[in-house]
Amino acid sequence: MRKLLIAGNWKMNTLLDDAQSLAEEVAHKVSARDLPSGVETAVCPPFVNLATVRAALVGSSVLLGAQNASDKASGAYTGEVSAQMLAAAGCSVVILGHSERRQYFGEDDALVNAKCRAAQAAGLRPIVCVGERLEEREQGKQNDVVAAQVRGSLSGLKTEGPTAPVIAYEPVWAIGTGRTATPDQAQDMHAFIRSLLRDLWSPHAADATGILYGGSMKPDNAKELLGQADIDGGLIGGASLDASAFLAIIQAAVEVAYA
Ligand code: PGA
Repeated sequence: MRKLLIAGNWKMNTLLDDAQSLAEEVAHKVSARDLPSGVETAVCPPFVNLATVRAALVGSSVLLGAQNASDKASGAYTGEVSAQMLAAAGCSVVILGHSERRQYFGEDDALVNAKCRAAQAAGLRPIVCVGERLEEREQGKQNDVVAAQVRGSLSGLKTEGPTAPVIAYEPVWAIGTGRTATPDQAQDMHAFIRSLLRDLWSPHAADATGILYGGSMKPDNAKELLGQADIDGGLIGGASLDASAFLAIIQAAVEVAYA
């Protein structure tokens, strides 16, 4: 059975003190809530706040994640952070290929694939983002775009064990816009992605892989989205910066998992 994962993507937000208090609030509530085994949760702060957030999460079941990693293992790559460094800093997951990285920092599928391999080699579980832009959906090209991203980013990865990738479908037009994909639109794309994984990997791996939805998931729409057959969690941007909103989404996941 697939677990639900609710992961907070803090993006380039939080100064050190904000990161500490946000992580403490989430950690406090998630340990008190005694997260059931069918639901996992993670927070992904900026690199410089990882150590502080790691300390704040001690004793809770909230996983620590990063928002990016280098495809290189080590060496003269000024400004880069390796997957191995993230693992040593206490991360167990890493977001890779987010649309903001693809759009603003020129990341393509080949680079995202190389980053995934580096992350897996370091023992991290990649959360690999795919999703079409608004004009691509308006032209009816969303399946072609996402299929190319899935094949290009995810081929040849390990699909078993703790580093098996999680996928996040994030339609770019829904990110930070308050405009969410409808549950039907999201479910259709998630089922399509799973069908692609059957061919790319194997039927077994496709069934076992978590596919998260991301793009303006909030407490008031989380339960309906998470209730779809092929939606296995959420990658939460804006709402993860507000502890009570993030906790409400975790609560929705708990309700869905144990409905
Ligand atoms: P959002 O961001 O929840 O603010 O739309 C999601 C994401 O970019 O991961």
